[in-house]
Amino acid sequence: MAFIEWAPALSVGFDEIDEDHKKLVGIVNKLSDAVTEGQGTSVSGNIIEELLSYTSWHFRHEERLMQSHGDPSFFDHKQEHMDLLEKAADIKKRFDEGDQSVPEEMLPFLKDWLTHHILETDMKTGHFLADKAG
Ligand SMILES: [Fe+2]
Repeated sequence: MAFIEWAPALSVGFDEIDEDHKKLVGIVNKLSDAVTEGQGTSVSGNIIEELLSYTSWHFRHEERLMQSHGDPSFFDHKQEHMDLLEKAADIKKRFDEGDQSVPEEMLPFLKDWLTHHILETDMKTGHFLADKAG
């Protein structure tokens, strides 16, 4: 069973964002599989790199959509993205310094972040965009 199961309850009502989130869930599940299978740090390291670069791309994607449609929650939402990226960069730094417990410790953080951020903040933006674009 996957570490995070995509479910319709996670849909924010806007396909373009849902597709990104599905991809993010897929990368987190890949990291979980690597940890479960006891893969070495080079495998986990590559997945962590992929996760961080996809996440920053995805945040910019959401921010562009919010900006171009005049989403009033833009600044608060963007601040949440910046806080998350800062936390992720700290974790990545520990990993780069040789802390091998990072991949396993990252998983609950990622699960909590993905589900909370999607269900609360992205949900508002998704519905706003669906109204504007629909
Ligand atoms: Fe977001």
